[in-house]
Amino acid sequence: MKLQKPVTSQVLRQSFIDFFASKDHRFVPSSPVVPNDDPTLLFANAGMNQFKSILLGGDNPTALKRAANSQKCIRVSGKHNDLDVVGRDSYHHTFFEMLGNWSFGDYFKKDAIRWSWELLTEVWGIEKSKLWATVYEEDDEAFELWKSETDIDPTHILKSGKKDNFWEMGEVGPCGPCSEVHYDFGPESDPRTGEPGYEAAVNLDGCERFIEIWNNVFMQYERLEDGSLRNLPAQHVDTGMGFERILRVMQGVKSNYDTDVFQPLLAKIAELTGVAYDPGEPGTPHRVIADHLRSLSFSIADGATPSNEGRGYVLRRLLRRAARFARELGAKKPVVCEVVPTLVEIMGDAFPELKARQAHILNVIRSEEERFGRTLDQGLDRFRKAAEAALDGVISGEEVFKLYDTYGFPVDLTEQMALERHLSIDLAGYQKAMEEQRERARSGGKFTSIFNSLDGWTILQDGNPAFVGYESDVARVKTLRFREHDEDFWIVTDRTPFYPEMGGQIGDTGLLIGNGVRFQVIDTQKVNDTIVHRAKLLEGSVSEESIGTLTASVDEVGRQATRRNHSGVHLLHAALREVLGEHVQQQGSWVGPEAFRFDFVHTSALSESEIKRVEDIVNEQIRQNLSIVTQVLPVEDAKKSGAMALFGEKYGDTVRVLTMGDFSKELCGGLHAASTGQIGLLRVLRESSISAGVRRIEGLTGLGAFELLRSQATAAARLAQALKCPEEEIGQKVSDLGSRLRLAEKEIEALKVAALSAKVPAILADSVDLGKAKAVAIDLTTQVTDPAGFGRLVDAIEQGLGLRQIALLAYGFDDKVTLVSLVSQDLVKICPAGPLVQAAAAVVEGKGGGKPNRAQAGGKDPAKIPQAFQAFLEAAKNKLA
Ligand code: ALA
Repeated sequence: MKLQKPVTSQVLRQSFIDFFASKDHRFVPSSPVVPNDDPTLLFANAGMNQFKSILLGGDNPTALKRAANSQKCIRVSGKHNDLDVVGRDSYHHTFFEMLGNWSFGDYFKKDAIRWSWELLTEVWGIEKSKLWATVYEEDDEAFELWKSETDIDPTHILKSGKKDNFWEMGEVGPCGPCSEVHYDFGPESDPRTGEPGYEAAVNLDGCERFIEIWNNVFMQYERLEDGSLRNLPAQHVDTGMGFERILRVMQGVKSNYDTDVFQPLLAKIAELTGVAYDPGEPGTPHRVIADHLRSLSFSIADGATPSNEGRGYVLRRLLRRAARFARELGAKKPVVCEVVPTLVEIMGDAFPELKARQAHILNVIRSEEERFGRTLDQGLDRFRKAAEAALDGVISGEEVFKLYDTYGFPVDLTEQMALERHLSIDLAGYQKAMEEQRERARSGGKFTSIFNSLDGWTILQDGNPAFVGYESDVARVKTLRFREHDEDFWIVTDRTPFYPEMGGQIGDTGLLIGNGVRFQVIDTQKVNDTIVHRAKLLEGSVSEESIGTLTASVDEVGRQATRRNHSGVHLLHAALREVLGEHVQQQGSWVGPEAFRFDFVHTSALSESEIKRVEDIVNEQIRQNLSIVTQVLPVEDAKKSGAMALFGEKYGDTVRVLTMGDFSKELCGGLHAASTGQIGLLRVLRESSISAGVRRIEGLTGLGAFELLRSQATAAARLAQALKCPEEEIGQKVSDLGSRLRLAEKEIEALKVAALSAKVPAILADSVDLGKAKAVAIDLTTQVTDPAGFGRLVDAIEQGLGLRQIALLAYGFDDKVTLVSLVSQDLVKICPAGPLVQAAAAVVEGKGGGKPNRAQAGGKDPAKIPQAFQAFLEAAKNKLA
């Protein structure tokens, strides 16, 4: 194999894949950097993530034995997190590509080591003396293999402990000893070279001379919850090479940021901010922006959006860190989003999802930047003051909280800014302030606060209520406790068929009937895992005796409607994915008896034909009358079965998996119809945007949808009757009427002008003789109906103006006056219109001007129009004298 020159990023990525293809590896594309099928993982953090279940001995449906690829990774949280050093050193990133090759129960240490060496030294021609290998201290086998299978300098094989040479995916999961390859960039690459007592070394923290480029993990174990190791059923190889690092080696540059995957980004940032890139410390802002932009773009392309929780908050934090650095470079407008096209240019071929979703990525980043931009300057100001006031070099927890709460500064951003000034933050104080606020919010919540207070509760029995409403709408239940509050009763029972508001589905309503008492349940909520009915007493009197045992019956009609809407939402979700693409992911939903709302990730408004297709698909599935089947499964099995899970939802050990034929499979705790046919009909009512990149569909099913159609049909019939045409001609008829109306309006306008023109001779006749000219000063307010009419009448007077005539025309309305002065052409030299109107306007506190024959002014006080006329006549007399 030969390496093509020049070694661009495209060439190198391909060369890795080609090399392993020549060793019978199958190319498996990178999995999304946002792992939608694994709610335990925020972002893909290693190439092996997508193979986790094969490594653990689960199914290997395509009998994959060897694989290779370049995986999109983000390391910003959890076990693998490099955020703090990003931009400050030359080789850590939040987003990076990991080149990897895998053996699944096939080859093991010997081939892995042999092929690493072959690729690095023979195919890529890296100087052998620059390479170092490390092995796990107990792994003599690997140690010996480096000696026997390669011609590496034997003094360059080092043994290391668990920290560096035992790799684990997370707190639990596949793991094993590993063997790393490091590259020696030479003493000049390390800023600490020459410091007294400093000696660069492999695996020395912060050392910039020896840098790990490739990790070969020999997967043999699974780490279990209790910390113990289990032998895997087979032995595997999992490798990961830092693509940007090896690119740096191959392009012979001093930093990952000097390679062709970063240079165009840095240049663009320099162009946008007008601050040239500096490879040293002053270039930190450029590097951070470029790095964070990559994380943001790739994760947004894979369906994530910035938000206040979980994964979304990680993105928001990254964006805000980048935006703050951009502001530091003097950018006043959003800059990060403007770099997206450059990123797409350099990486869009290798990762087509960037190209496909460029506009969406740009929009989402821009709107986030705009949002943060609104408070950024004030926040920076607040920070400056807090930093100056910091006692003992520590910024108070209150201030850190204030910056977070009011100005949107993530705590790590404040911490970083503090560090730049050699200050620290009072993290414990911040957490305390945060907790206090949570407490305030908790106690502010009506339901929760009443619930949490023990006062007022009558306790009959201990226990925690169970939900029994999946199968039945009615149950005999025992009351555990109850209390009165305002006009309502709050009742907790040992079990209940009432569904508490959860997962977007609203709480049930219905009846609780006891021994001589009847309650109307108006809402059901879940508070601290306890289901609470909120009820109004309809009849009887409440006592331990009368309320002890109750018949709980859910409002059946409402519940059936809710079931239909909830099942309709699942069909809608699947249909949207079919029509718009797999990026469609639920962002939120609301399901009640009357209607449903469904929010999902998608950039653009849905066209009429897309909505129609979605409706067609859903209604076809309804007509198929698919059975809706619920299975209760361990969460891992559920995910393996391919059920769609929502990120950020907390799932218990077992979950409910809801299947509708082959069409839809989702984890869901809600209530559903028994078969799709029961939904009857689904109709989309409205489609709209709720934030950048998130759309909302509102719709109806069942009776609601039917009634909507009927009321629309009735409306159409009424319209047809009123318009005296068949229904299908309503559109044409309305458009004809519109044209006729416009014609009629034009005619009316012409008539109005004619009528006004008729008044002109009388107006001009009412004049004062000033010798050289006749002057007219007249208030036209009562002659016209509106300012437009005044304008038309002034035009008509101007037309009718003879020689030696001047005029001042006024129109007063509310507390405003409009004045217009007209001067006949023969007088414009000696008595131009501008000064005339200005003299009059001064009286009504106004100003104006215009042409010598016509000028206009606005003023304030209509009561002073007569005085304004006087001023006009005075001014005219002076001019004409
Ligand atoms: N999974 C290994 C790593 O991430 C290769 O380093």
